[in-house]
Amino acid sequence: MGDIIILPEHIAIIMDGNGRWAKKRLLTKTAGHKAGASNLRKLAEQANKAGLRYLSVYAFSTENWKRPAAEVEGLMNLLRGYIQEYIDDTNKNDMRVRVIGRRDRLALDLREKIEYLEQLTAGKTGLTLVIALDYGSRDELWRAARKFAAACTKGDISGDTLDEDVFANYLDTAGIPDPQLLIRTSGEQRLSNFMMWQLAYSELYYTDKLWPDFGFKDMLEAVQAYHARERRFGG
Ligand code: FPP
Repeated sequence: MGDIIILPEHIAIIMDGNGRWAKKRLLTKTAGHKAGASNLRKLAEQANKAGLRYLSVYAFSTENWKRPAAEVEGLMNLLRGYIQEYIDDTNKNDMRVRVIGRRDRLALDLREKIEYLEQLTAGKTGLTLVIALDYGSRDELWRAARKFAAACTKGDISGDTLDEDVFANYLDTAGIPDPQLLIRTSGEQRLSNFMMWQLAYSELYYTDKLWPDFGFKDMLEAVQAYHARERRFGG
């Protein structure tokens, strides 16, 4: 029997390396993303069983629109299928799904599927899977500032009541606790505009494993590394 590993409440992951995983196998990039999506499905299920409360993943960034049209289309179709599978499985699944990021640039059918799935799973008590889609931190921050400014103009709130907690409620992640741990796969060591506000105090963990190869055991290793570090919150 191994030791019991206590999971943090919220783990965030930058799922990087699908392209390199595919290249090594002479597959298309879309095939790599497909392998990445099935890996996420498996990992989320295992994390849910283990009692993790929140898992946030970077699926598509505000910058990813610049990728070749075929890759963007492939990713959007994968997301469609992914959301649909969760819709189909809602009855046998206790996971909640929340999608953060912009909605205005997504195809209408995808937007509707997302809204439907969010409503369908809103009362679930298992893991909350937070999917970042057309998401960028800077984009999220200015949208939050705009929402706040609009509420001020309307007279719903006064400008001088703004503080950290009030502002956090205007972010896409309103109501979701900050991640304690960020994992990025495939050896890159950047935040790439992911949850910059929310990750202010998080431990950052990098691994050379490519995303489709990153399993639950690897996640537990990251959690062990996180426990081994002393967290002081600047105190
Ligand atoms: C980075 O790999 C990964 C992405 C741009 C997208 C992540 C998407 C998935 C894991 C699958 C879709 C997600 C869901 C929720 C269905 P990369 O292409 O930049 O890899 P590379 O750096 O090796 O080229």
